[in-house]
Amino acid sequence: MRVLLVGSGGREHSIGWKLAQSSRVDELISLPGNPGLAELGPTVEGIDVTDVGAIAAMARIHRVDLVIVGPEAPLAAGVADSASSLGIPVFGPTRSAARLESSKSFAKDVMNRAGIPTGASKTFTDHQSAMDHLSRTEGPYVIKADGLAAGKGVLVTESRTDAESWVGYCLEGGFGDAGASVMIDEYLDGPEVSVFAVCTESGAVPLEPARDYKRLFDDDEGPNTGGMGSYSPVDDLPRDLVTNVMTDVIDPVIEQMRVDGNPFTGFLYAGLVLTDTGPKVLEFNVRLGDPECQAILPRMTSDLVDVLEGASPEWSAMATVNVVLASVGYPTAPEKGAVIKGLDRVPDDVIVFHAGTKRDGRKLLVSGGRVLNLVGTGATVGEARAKAYAAAETVAWPGAQYRTDIADGYRLPL
Ligand code: GLY
Repeated sequence: MRVLLVGSGGREHSIGWKLAQSSRVDELISLPGNPGLAELGPTVEGIDVTDVGAIAAMARIHRVDLVIVGPEAPLAAGVADSASSLGIPVFGPTRSAARLESSKSFAKDVMNRAGIPTGASKTFTDHQSAMDHLSRTEGPYVIKADGLAAGKGVLVTESRTDAESWVGYCLEGGFGDAGASVMIDEYLDGPEVSVFAVCTESGAVPLEPARDYKRLFDDDEGPNTGGMGSYSPVDDLPRDLVTNVMTDVIDPVIEQMRVDGNPFTGFLYAGLVLTDTGPKVLEFNVRLGDPECQAILPRMTSDLVDVLEGASPEWSAMATVNVVLASVGYPTAPEKGAVIKGLDRVPDDVIVFHAGTKRDGRKLLVSGGRVLNLVGTGATVGEARAKAYAAAETVAWPGAQYRTDIADGYRLPL
């Protein structure tokens, strides 16, 4: 089959890398792709990933058999609907079902009706009502722009003044339409964990968990990022966590969406907080995590296309540790254009997934914030970690930065 993969980051490179091993995939086309994906098949440039009509038309012209979508923005823009309307199968939710990620109040309403454990919340479009609510609430305050804000729309603060300012910033257009309503959520205390499931018309099957490190610096200091590293397996999770989350969270949300006439298919990512009273859902995403995906897929021994059709995946006992190399200035103002050196010295048991890179003749340049993922593999997390970090020392450009504590001591990030 011919597969069109939408997206350009490390997550998409790892999905493409896995698809390229599938006995069922004859050709992988990436839109727009990246230099890593370009080694696996043709790439299509010049179409924005949210231009869903153009993506569907391009898929038809190239007689694509299956579209797989990496990031949330094309799903929220309706790429599944556009391609399906032309008879092209898509692995990913419709625009309406993607509201599980693109509208926090929508997701909360589904969770409440399905009896899924989550924090109490209220949503506001009116400034004064939100201020009145804050005045009756104790911190820490959790304020979220309702829509997609590229991971920047959430503030957690002890300061009521800062909470009030954030509400004002959202409602006054700081995040455009994404902040036209704001959710004031209950603060959930405990370590965070993500559980991923593949949802098809025949049900949901879990993937192996991976742990993500969101802060820029070691010891979970510094600003939030898209994720600076990940590892799998994660062996310090509560017993039966994945089984319980499937029963208490994933299956009920899928059933509620079906009852609502808004069935969900695609990857479902439940962000959880392990509170004293059990796991509670912080948020849903309708895609795989980046950089978790890069640690998970190398451990999958099943054919990814079979899994996307509902087969239960099988896993290698091998461990993976993914160290993200980011550019100087990331996440606020990443510098671009530096020449990346040393990739030819990375050993075969470290998988390199490209993210913010671009080719310039024979040179490879930095073109984004998160630049490369170096995924060490080994019999244990410790061995995989040592390999990833040895590789990180061989790859360089001026200002490259990475955390040195990914998978160190199996600590739960705060
Ligand atoms: N790693 C977090 C995310 O993909 O949203």
